[in-house]
Amino acid sequence: MSLGDAMGSVWRAQPGNAATGPAVPGCRVMAVGSALPQIVVSNAEVEHFLDTSDEWISSRTGIRERRVASPEETLLQLAARAARAALAAAGVEAAEVDTVICSSSSPDETFPSLACRLQADLGCPHGPAFDVQAACSGAIYGLALAQALIHTGLSRRVLVVAAEIFSRLVDWSDRSTAVLFGDGAGAFLVGGPDAGGSELLAIDLGADGRGALALGTLPFQATSQPTDRPGYTASPRALGRVVTMNGREVFRFSTKILEQVVARLAEAVGSSPDQLTMVVPHQANSRILATAAGRLELPLERFAGNLERLGNTSSASIPLALAEAAEQGRCQSGDLICLVAFGAGLTWGGLLLRWGSTAIGIDDPVGLEARSQKHLGRALNEAGTGEEERG
Ligand SMILES: CC(C)(COP(=O)(O)OP(=O)(O)OC[C@H]1O[C@@H](n2cnc3c(N)ncnc32)[C@H](O)[C@@H]1OP(=O)(O)O)[C@@H](O)C(=O)NCCC(=O)NCCS
Repeated sequence: MSLGDAMGSVWRAQPGNAATGPAVPGCRVMAVGSALPQIVVSNAEVEHFLDTSDEWISSRTGIRERRVASPEETLLQLAARAARAALAAAGVEAAEVDTVICSSSSPDETFPSLACRLQADLGCPHGPAFDVQAACSGAIYGLALAQALIHTGLSRRVLVVAAEIFSRLVDWSDRSTAVLFGDGAGAFLVGGPDAGGSELLAIDLGADGRGALALGTLPFQATSQPTDRPGYTASPRALGRVVTMNGREVFRFSTKILEQVVARLAEAVGSSPDQLTMVVPHQANSRILATAAGRLELPLERFAGNLERLGNTSSASIPLALAEAAEQGRCQSGDLICLVAFGAGLTWGGLLLRWGSTAIGIDDPVGLEARSQKHLGRALNEAGTGEEERG
């Protein structure tokens, strides 16, 4: 069995009947919030200090620009902005949030957790606060935990916040990884079945540790760099480490797992992939998305995307993409929306939502232009699927 062929754990909400027993309703995603730093770094800018080109980056990845945090900006600030955007959109006070779960692969300290820092920053009461480490799948792992905590009665209102400053986790001298990532944060506010919002219908969660070495971090070996590089390239590295990756292996795993999770989630609720209104995939690479869409026989327009403008924002990418798609009016009541993530570990996580009255809050100082699927579609057309190269 190769990487990407493994089965994880699948859970689904039960309507409840004589055969299945009492109903087990899914909890509700009451709000989605997102926050972005202000600095926009285009491929053309990266060309100035790295041996790369806009043509190489956009044709291999679909990425044209990314956001990066200024040296003064902290992960906590970014996380708090996304959390506040979600709370404000839902009209819920921080005092009502009894559990805080955070995900970050780019923390600047091992402990205390980002979640504890965020709980204090927001002024939430003193229920559980902890971080999950599932790399780019972290927001989905967090949502699955929120469902479990609410289901057992331990929590009533859970904030799941994914925040990443990958510009401090890449070696800006390494063109093979530095160009891929960006910074940002996203937040989900989750309540019980009685709360308003989108119902969580099914979860698919798993990991295959045999692929642990395909995507990880190494100690950062600082080399002397020209002093005219932008300030963000010189921020201290998160935990003194930087990303290392076997790009081709990760590519193969990602395309397989994306396809399988979408198919399994649709099947879990008695549907097929073509009955999904929208797939919100982890934004890693446009060719991964195009390959998976092709294998699922889904039109690419059904995939939400922000890769072209934000790059890979790791665990923040799904709430960022979902908030943006919903703000653009792409999520209508009753729609079946599939969120699917994959990343280091190797991990994956998928969720199926029946869209309801989920509130959306976006904190982006640069301003959201009217963005249509054409952006992603154009990048994908230019990139091609690359499937033939990779098998
Ligand atoms: C990273 C990725 C885009 C690289 O594409 P690839 O076609 O596999 O490219 P390779 O790594 O084989 O490199 C091909 C060449 O491009 C070069 N190259 C790598 N990065 C480059 C850059 N930024 N600019 C210019 N050239 C670059 C390499 O040095 C290599 O040159 P060589 O042939 O002279 O040795 C691709 O493997 C990928 O998308 N993988 C998945 C990554 C991902 O999504 N990770 C996150 C998952 S959560």
